[in-house]
Amino acid sequence: MEQTLVILKPSAIHRGLIGEIINRFQNKGLIITGLKMMQLDETILREHYAHLVEKPFFPSLLESMMAAPVIVMCLEGKDAVETVRLMTGATNGRKALPGTIRGDFSMSGQENIVHASDSVENGKIELARFFKPGEIFNYTPSDLRFYYAPDEN
Ligand code: TYD
Repeated sequence: MEQTLVILKPSAIHRGLIGEIINRFQNKGLIITGLKMMQLDETILREHYAHLVEKPFFPSLLESMMAAPVIVMCLEGKDAVETVRLMTGATNGRKALPGTIRGDFSMSGQENIVHASDSVENGKIELARFFKPGEIFNYTPSDLRFYYAPDEN
């Protein structure tokens, strides 16, 4: 099944939203196959946000992303990348629709609680960036029959 990377950002950690957000993904039916806490540094953030290093807000973004350890997760499911992006909402929490994570928990364009991969290809690259071999697991929930129809694509 498709895999995607989610990062619970320092804003989620400081605001005590870890359980709330993990719950949303689990309740949706996404399968957690990797999960760990780690402290990000400038090297990994420059790689992860390479498309933003020239932006004026980049130093502030760096500081924000290093303000606490983060939680990285590998979520699996059919169309996991698109589904998780829909659940995440628009970048700016003030523009994100109610019902999305950013729409429900953020008032900010930077302190926006979660990162989620934006394509299947980037999902693969980002998972390899944040997880070492062996840190993503392979298991089938006992009731997978009730997550999807048997013939569902
Ligand atoms: P981006 O990759 O454009 O958005 P998304 O996280 O929705 O995929 O931006 C990455 C992060 O950079 C974003 O989550 C928060 C931060 N950011 C700012 O701080 N200010 C900004 O104006 C933008 C566009 C992003």
